Order: sequence, then structure tokens, then C-alpha cells
Amino acid sequence: MPDDRYIHGHDEPVLRSQLWRTAANSAAYLLPHLVSGLSLLDVGSGPGNVTRELARIVAPGRVVGIDRDPGVVALAAAAVAVDDAAEPTPTAPTPGLLSPDPAAPALPTNLLPPDPTGDPAANLLSPGLPIDSAASFHAPDSSVAPGTNRVHPDPSTQAGAPTPAPAAGEDAAPPPTAHQVTFEVADVYELPYDDDEFDIVHAHQLLQHLSDPVAALTEMSRVARPGGLVAVRDADYGAWAWYPPSLGLDRWREIYRAVARAAGAEPDAGRHLLAWAHAAGFTDVTPSTSTWCFATRAEREWWGNMWAQRAAETDFARQALALGLTDEAELAYLAEAWQNWAADDDGWIVIVHGEVLIRVPEAPRRGGVGPSLDLWARRSDELTGVGAGPGGLGGRPSGGASPLLCEDGSAAE
Ligand SMILES: C[S@@+](CC[C@H](N)C(=O)[O-])C[C@H]1O[C@@H](n2cnc3c(N)ncnc32)[C@H](O)[C@@H]1O
Repeated sequence: MPDDRYIHGHDEPVLRSQLWRTAANSAAYLLPHLVSGLSLLDVGSGPGNVTRELARIVAPGRVVGIDRDPGVVALAAAAVAVDDAAEPTPTAPTPGLLSPDPAAPALPTNLLPPDPTGDPAANLLSPGLPIDSAASFHAPDSSVAPGTNRVHPDPSTQAGAPTPAPAAGEDAAPPPTAHQVTFEVADVYELPYDDDEFDIVHAHQLLQHLSDPVAALTEMSRVARPGGLVAVRDADYGAWAWYPPSLGLDRWREIYRAVARAAGAEPDAGRHLLAWAHAAGFTDVTPSTSTWCFATRAEREWWGNMWAQRAAETDFARQALALGLTDEAELAYLAEAWQNWAADDDGWIVIVHGEVLIRVPEAPRRGGVGPSLDLWARRSDELTGVGAGPGGLGGRPSGGASPLLCEDGSAAE
């Protein structure tokens, strides 16, 4: 099993970036395929923000987040405990995941106010920058100052983001809570789960850190059921584009990619995902792309200052020094370049991501359709009328996709 080095480490600026992430800004391509009751494994879950939101979407389905780093697993588990403590036992069905419903108990947000004691560890559970979620545009909301709590808009207003209703005669799904989420220490190359155990296996920003992403995809698919989905999304550092031109940012990227490649990883992972899926033997693969964009003053300050710190003070900097790629003076120059970019009213950056949705073949793998897939088909039929239309996954974030995932578009069979 490869013993890869995770080059970002888990210093505070790194976690700050990950705690900003949501299902809407980081997994929009997957959302149209999620319905209540599905089970989901989130691999390389980090501090678990995205995992906990996905759990609310598939509630009461079982959700497990795994990460190789015990410290970040403990942080994610602590956030679940906070969610649980904040959530009164609900008495009414909650109509839409992430949607503010005035009649429902206070929405359990993953965003807590900054810790009044100033304890930085506690502040790790506080919001980075709130976002205005949309399927195809993932910029933070410039109308809300960084650090302001905010409930996400109702995704049912977004194309392709269904809010499934309970089936006729079926008990209403329990309200989405954090209770069904657990976080465990595990390695993607050797997942401690049975074959076919999950409906969905998801990883966000993981494959770019691995020396053998194809082996990782193979292992992820092992624990996904036949007909289920493996969903991965990764940034493509080579495709990031910014304005104005900056020799400092050019140099930062050069060093970043060199550090990643020295660890045996591929920093331009986004463009490789489709090829990696093919190399793992999958043929039913739906590629897509999506971006984050930071351009308002609040966005630039948050993103630019976070990267300024990451450039000079985190594991990335320590490895760049250890590899002899740079020196302290240049790291300070890189940090300053990020700060200058952040301070420039014309500053703009786009973070390009690749995504793939892989459908795990029904055959010749272990055949048999389990109860969860039946549930999947039933709920999908409710949403689409009769079942999936032509085109299988068809799941582009902006495409109004069907949530039905079965091979021939008739999963009820
Ligand atoms: C960039 S972070 C992404 C975290 C989270 N998915 C998110 O998007 O916020 C990548 C995570 O993968 C974890 N990781 C790296 N190699 C791993 C491996 N071989 N198995 C499991 N997790 C791993 C790291 O510890 C880190 O928390």
C-alpha cells in the first residue's frame, strides 16, 4: 500500500479553506444523484464539512467519512457532536436539505460563530467565508462579510437539485440530522468495508494527493454497490487563472507543483480524472468541470491571505525548503505576491476542477440488486415520473439531470 505524503498538512490555514467547503460549492455535480436513504462513503473527508452536508441530503441513509489523519478525523467527529448538541429532536419532516424552513427546528448549520474565547482550535469550527451556492457558480457571497453565519439557500430552486418527497404510503423520511454520520481513520488504498457496502463513494480533493490514484479508484469502487456511483472532484493547479499577471504567483505555482510531484502526486489532477477512471477499467464515466471564483474584496482577502499563510508557514513551505526548491526569502516573496493580489481591486482568480461520476458495473461483478437500490429506483421514479430518460447519468451540474443511476434507464427492473 503506498504511503503517500499529504503535502498540505493540517495547519490552520489549510483547515480554514476546507471548512469553507459545502456540498453546493464542492459537490454540485453529485447532488442531482442523491436521494434520501442512500448510503455514502466520503473518502479523505478532512474536517468533514462536505461530508456532514451530504449526510443531511441522504438522511436517514448511513454516511461514513474516512481520513488517514487521526487529528482531522477527531475534528470532524467533534463537529458532529456539536451538530448533535445543537439539534433538538425534530418533530416535523424537514422539506429540503439545507433549505431554511421557518416551520422546522433551527437548521443545523455546520457554521458556528467564532469562539468568543479566541481559542483557535474552537475557531476551526467557525465559518470561513459564507457562500451563495449555485450549481454552476461557486463564488463566496460578496454581500456577506467573511465570518458571517449564513444559512444556505434552498437547493430546490437550483437546476437539477431535487428535494425528494416521501413515497405515497411510506413514512416521511426522518429530518436530516447529523446523527447518522460517523468519521473513522482509514486509508483509501485499503478501505475497511465489505464489497458493495455503499451506494455512493465520494472523494473531494483527494486523488491529487495520491501516488496511485487508479488503485484508489479501484478500491473505492470495490466498496460501491453494482449500479452505484463513485464520484471524484479535484482541482487542476495548472488550469488556475488569475488577473493581474503576477510573477510571484507564477513562481508559487511552479514550486507548488514541484512539491506535489516530489511526493509522487499529480497537482493537475482535474484533467487526469477521466483517464484515471478509464485506466481503472470503467467505461460508464461522466466527466464534468466546475469552478470556484474569487474576485470581490471579501473573497480576495479570504483566499489571498489564506494562501499567503499557506505559502510561508505550512507543510507546503516546510517541504519546499526541505526539497531545496526555495528559501525563506522567496517564501516571503510568494506570500507577499498573494497579499498583493488580494489587495488589488482588479484581482480575480478562477480555480478549475475536474469531476467524474463513475457508475459501477452491474455485471460481471457480484450481481444482485439490494434493497437500497430498490429504494433508489423508487425514489427516482417519484422524481422523474416513470424513471430515467435516455442518457444514463446525464448528470452535469447545470443539466437538470435525472437522479436515476441505473444502466439502461429503467432501474425498477
Ligand atoms: C485536500 S483534503 C480534502 C478534505 C475534504 N475532502 C474537503 O474537500 O474538504 C485531502 C484529505 O485526504 C486525506 N488523505 C490523504 N491521503 C489519504 C489516504 N491515502 N487515505 C485517506 N485519506 C487520505 C488527507 O489527510 C486530507 O484530510
